[in-house]
Amino acid sequence: MTRKGIVLAGGTGSRLSPITQGLSKQLVPVYDKPMVYYPLSVLMLAGIREIAVITRPEDREQFHRFLGDGSQWGVSIAYLVQPRPEGLAQSYLIAEAFLDGAASALVLGDNIFFGHGLTELLHRADARPGGGTIFATRVQDPQRYGVVRMDADGTVLELVEKPQVPPSHYAVTGLYFLDGAAPARARDLTPSARGELEIVSLLDTYRAERSLEVIRMGRGFAWLDTGTHDSLLDAGNFVRTLQSRQGLQCGCLEEIAFDQGWIDREALKAQAARHSATAYGAYLDQLATAPPQR
Ligand code: DAU
Repeated sequence: MTRKGIVLAGGTGSRLSPITQGLSKQLVPVYDKPMVYYPLSVLMLAGIREIAVITRPEDREQFHRFLGDGSQWGVSIAYLVQPRPEGLAQSYLIAEAFLDGAASALVLGDNIFFGHGLTELLHRADARPGGGTIFATRVQDPQRYGVVRMDADGTVLELVEKPQVPPSHYAVTGLYFLDGAAPARARDLTPSARGELEIVSLLDTYRAERSLEVIRMGRGFAWLDTGTHDSLLDAGNFVRTLQSRQGLQCGCLEEIAFDQGWIDREALKAQAARHSATAYGAYLDQLATAPPQR
């Protein structure tokens, strides 16, 4: 069965208030596109075409307005709701019927990844028939994240959420490839002291069976934070710098869909026309007529 994708885009976004008083955090712009484009692009790069976006009930309509049914990118997008932010692992319960036994890739709607070779890493994770795969990257401040300790061959020794004394500098990023057993495993979890079904607890069930692989994203990767006003601006500046220097887009869903062969030239041109007033539209138009050498 083909792997399906989940984008978790709920939560209150309280650390980005007042922006998030009337707008979901994951729809806030990161330079020239809504934040959720970037994690969606990761699922599409992994070759995933059936995607569920989980939102707060009150944000569902707005997400639909932004993303539609996904056909403009050759994918299908379903909308599911999470009434209260009761933990990342709850995604698997909410999406259980959508997954219908399939393996999944869950990405947090506020996580931005950039790096040479990302697609190969995603394909490696997708190709694993069972178990789970997580992606870890070195950070300065591991106590703010899920942290993984591993041995030299990448075997996971310990996973811990926001430890006061981190056992390593490797943060677990918000991208999780799990097999079809994830919903059943999530059902057996009990909420943590903060009342959430913790993703780290779910991952730990795989670790305990030695079926959790960790892929290290090395120095050539950027995993960007968008959690505060400052880090959001930094992420926007990063995307702007990269795009203006290279002349290539980061997180461009139409480009990925076209490269994957999911939309044809005519569909790409139609998308270019929709955004014709912008450099984004000009980029799409160029892709459809004379693609830049990449
Ligand atoms: O970003 C990676 C980190 O994400 C991991 O290293 C941690 O292990 C993981 O717990 C998570 O940590 P955060 O502190 O970033 O979690 P936060 O509660 O801020 O939620 C992350 C995103 O998911 C955020 O955009 C809100 C959304 N969310 C969160 C919860 C708990 C939901 O949509 N529903 C939820 O129930």
